Amino acid sequence: MALAGKQILLIVSGGIAAYKAAVLVRRLKDAGATVVPILTKGGAQFITPLTLAGLAEHPVYEDLFSLKDESEMGHIRLAREADLILVAPASADLIGRMAAGLADDLASTTLLAADGPVAIAPSMNPVMWANPATQANVHALMARGVHVWGPADGDMACGEIGSGRLTEPEDLVALAEAFFAPKPLAGKRALVTSGPTHEPVDPVRVMANRSSGQQGQAVAAALAAAGADVTLVTGPVALPPPVGVHVQRVETADDMLAAAQATLPADIAVFAAAVADWKPKDAAPEKLKKQADHDELELRFVKNPDILATIAQGDPRPGLVVGFAAETENLVDNARAKRQKKQVDWILANDVSGGAVFGAANNAVTLVTGDGADAVDTWPELSKSQVAARLVARIVEALEP
Ligand code: C5P
Repeated sequence: MALAGKQILLIVSGGIAAYKAAVLVRRLKDAGATVVPILTKGGAQFITPLTLAGLAEHPVYEDLFSLKDESEMGHIRLAREADLILVAPASADLIGRMAAGLADDLASTTLLAADGPVAIAPSMNPVMWANPATQANVHALMARGVHVWGPADGDMACGEIGSGRLTEPEDLVALAEAFFAPKPLAGKRALVTSGPTHEPVDPVRVMANRSSGQQGQAVAAALAAAGADVTLVTGPVALPPPVGVHVQRVETADDMLAAAQATLPADIAVFAAAVADWKPKDAAPEKLKKQADHDELELRFVKNPDILATIAQGDPRPGLVVGFAAETENLVDNARAKRQKKQVDWILANDVSGGAVFGAANNAVTLVTGDGADAVDTWPELSKSQVAARLVARIVEALEP
């Protein structure tokens, strides 16, 4: 019940995703929150006040000029009593009115009267989201401290694909929980590398690997939830980036190293990327052709930089450097050796002898924090998010004064 005792004022504005507000109310209540709904005129076209009131077990407020609403709970009190105001879905129109400081209905008036935390979960057609007007409005709100939770990528109700989907109710609840959770890493800067690298062979082909980026992204999200200012440097992955972290997208190991170095100094650096050890020497300037008289093609490779070792041995060195090691034998000995050789503080070693780790939901890891027998901690098989949460808990412990 991570939201027990918290009052959340949920503003539901117009948009097809308003139907998801029903699930959101349920999930917020499941997490222990008191939910006070406000429904805009547009929102009421998509979901009824009766549905929201029933699920919230609380009256729904709709009208600025309703004597009943105003006498029961004036808009100033509505705004001030909430521990968090969550606008979900936040339509392009309501975002625009918030940015302009308009107060022409109960939702916008309450938002203007708010002096506490506000989060918006945008939901709209991808072209509307990408429109410079919307982007300028969202940036204006961010500059005023409004939290922006989403939007997510994916298929839209309007049939288009892109960014603009409402962040799923479960994810919004997780974000609300993270918002209220203690922030032991507040003020700390963190760097996380994640995903594969793509090394060009010619203009249309790359050398890649099957890293999904899940573990690195989970670490980035867990660090951000603990209050760290996180930059995720990620190779090409299919996952939508976690909300609340700065994302730098790169292709090659050389780009990843440069992007990672540009984020320094950092207090914490976690290297979860599956960096290609080799890259084709001199990528061909033109597409390599099938050659009728050749059955074989020879490529020459040169070493890529070791990003982890370069940063662990560089200046400024992050305060705590954590690497991963995929091993098929002598897990702990190899992890210790890697720790020494690369001058890493901690190694999270996974045993990959039993099968796939890449792309799998779970991970079984051993954390090696030193040379002694007491510096080895073997965790049971956990989801990648749980692995990330445990790692972050250890990081918090280690950084405690
Ligand atoms: O040497 P090995 O590839 O086993 O080391 C794994 C660790 O080093 C991981 O943390 C990985 O992100 C990092 N690494 C790196 N750059 C490389 C190779 C590995 O940052 N070129």
